[in-house]
Amino acid sequence: MTSFPLLLKDFAENLDAFMGQILSRPSRLDQAMRYSAVPSGKAIRGFLAGESLHLAGFSQDTVWGVAAAFELFHTYSLIHDDLPCMDNADLRRGRPTCHLAFDEATAVLAGDALQAEAFALLSAPTPLFPIQGQMRLIHRLALSAGHCGMALGQAIDIAGTVTTLQDLKTMHHLKTGVLIQTAAMAGGLLRGDEALTRTMETFGALLGLAFQVRDDLLDIDGCPQETGKTAGQDHHNQRVTFVSVLGAAGSRDLLYDLEQQAGDCLKSLPNAGHLPDLLSFVIRRQW
Ligand code: IPE
Ligand code: IPE
Ligand code: MG
Ligand code: MG
Ligand code: MG
Repeated sequence: MTSFPLLLKDFAENLDAFMGQILSRPSRLDQAMRYSAVPSGKAIRGFLAGESLHLAGFSQDTVWGVAAAFELFHTYSLIHDDLPCMDNADLRRGRPTCHLAFDEATAVLAGDALQAEAFALLSAPTPLFPIQGQMRLIHRLALSAGHCGMALGQAIDIAGTVTTLQDLKTMHHLKTGVLIQTAAMAGGLLRGDEALTRTMETFGALLGLAFQVRDDLLDIDGCPQETGKTAGQDHHNQRVTFVSVLGAAGSRDLLYDLEQQAGDCLKSLPNAGHLPDLLSFVIRRQW
């Protein structure tokens, strides 16, 4: 049987081919978008969206457009997160960040255009999805992105004002969790399956929080050759993280507690597909 990391790698390679075709224009803007989006990283959000579509009974050929939308949206967030005015990061996926490989203005625009492209993919007319389902997913993604979602989470992170554990969880949920949660809900929203949507909403929130706790741990104990990012960025930027609040051991305890809760949530599904493997991968990942 294929191991989960190999399965994920195979998925990412197929998705990269799909995204490469979308971003194939010769303009400098397209070059910058392609440089950051392809090859993708782990493609966890795209894979999760694909699993969610399978759980809702959609076939594999419906997956690529939706998965690409989540990965392009995610790439937009990374390009902007790395900008000098945000985290001022030099390295992303083992390569110079977009603003260094191109220039700052191009990086801002590449992020803008990737976000727009994600919405274009999800709103494209298609007989594959009910139009009301497309509307539900687009609406949810828009909410995830904005002033009550990711942008707010990033603003709170940069302000550095978080002091309590609850506020830290809220910040992580907003800046990282909501997008992962929306990917988890994609199939249920497209199908109009309320029960599936609610279960995946809970699972996605737990997975998303765990994802960012692991990211904070990797910032202190990850190996740049594996993470593709400079180590110690959070400390350097004086960010409040799970590690700075709970310590490394406390963060690991929280991670295994979240794994337990997310695993329990999956038990209510008749068939969880590859989601238990994805959960375990996110908790233990080295990159
Ligand atoms: C990094 O996300 C940014 C965070 C939200 C923590 P990933 O670790 O999923 O990055 P890639 O896409 O695999 O490079
Ligand atoms: C990034 O969080 C969150 C978003 C991109 C919205 P981080 O700043 O911790 O991500 P990395 O560590 O740079 O990948
Ligand atoms: Mg950041
Ligand atoms: Mg960052
Ligand atoms: Mg980080």
